[in-house]
Amino acid sequence: MIATGQQVELRRREAALTERVLASFAATPSPRLRELLQGLVRHLHAYARDVRLTDAEWEYMIGFLTRTGQISDDKRQEFILLSDVLGLSMLTIGINAPSDPLATEPTVFGPFFVADAPLIEYGGDAAQGARGEPCWVEGRVTDTAGNPLAGAEIEVWEADEDGFYDVQYSDARTAGRARTRADDDGRYGFWSVKPAAYPIPGDGPVGELLAATSRSPMRPAHIHFMVAAPGHHRLVTHVFVAGGPHLDDDAVFGVKESLIAEFQEQPPGAGPAGRTLDGRWWQLVFDVRLASEEENDRDRSD
Ligand code: BEZ
Ligand code: FE
Repeated sequence: MIATGQQVELRRREAALTERVLASFAATPSPRLRELLQGLVRHLHAYARDVRLTDAEWEYMIGFLTRTGQISDDKRQEFILLSDVLGLSMLTIGINAPSDPLATEPTVFGPFFVADAPLIEYGGDAAQGARGEPCWVEGRVTDTAGNPLAGAEIEVWEADEDGFYDVQYSDARTAGRARTRADDDGRYGFWSVKPAAYPIPGDGPVGELLAATSRSPMRPAHIHFMVAAPGHHRLVTHVFVAGGPHLDDDAVFGVKESLIAEFQEQPPGAGPAGRTLDGRWWQLVFDVRLASEEENDRDRSD
């Protein structure tokens, strides 16, 4: 289609406006802040021009962001959820992940972590009454050469078999979460329950966005891990249940092939850490490899 003279003039004015806004940030003392703001303006303007944003759409967007702020508080962060469903969280995690290809891959943090979870020893119970089939979880925390990271701090949290985290119940329970430590050989082990798939919170603007776009709010079943050891990058990740639903349509794009693991079904009887099970139970082996802070920083400055 050939542009009319009027259209050419319109585009020229649009481009000139973008240039003026970019120039308004040219004297920003911090080069990084300048880069961030000018990049934002460039992409936002390009987006509005590209889709020919209408006044009504601009107003809807302002209302949507306003409601996203209004529903957020110290317990609920709807902006993070928005970043998650737009894939921005996973993109940022990928950009900042350690470059060591042998390190366990990170994924989204999510809104359900609670600090100061109960501290348990090897063989302890992270379920603390959470509903679900018993699941023994064990593994080793090492560096990427396989050397044990003795004393590594491990935090785990997960939804119960009904798909709810403890903090989603109104009775202030603590269940399905714990802190533990790797032993001298890097080994850890605890009892919990087999996790279930669940929907992300859908009663706010993000739920409205997913409904309007016919997108599933579901996350595949997973256990969250946060693992830290001195001199190593802190890892925030999950382990996903192989063969479970929603591995290929996770609402927050958090699934990575390397994080999918077999939960092996076990018959009733004697289990690890002195426990006897009357019904079937599950076993997961999940080894964690942390990237060294030094090597990774060296790689990035090359
Ligand atoms: C979660 O896995 O807990 C989660 C992650 C992102 C958004 C909502 C929930
Ligand atoms: Fe989760």
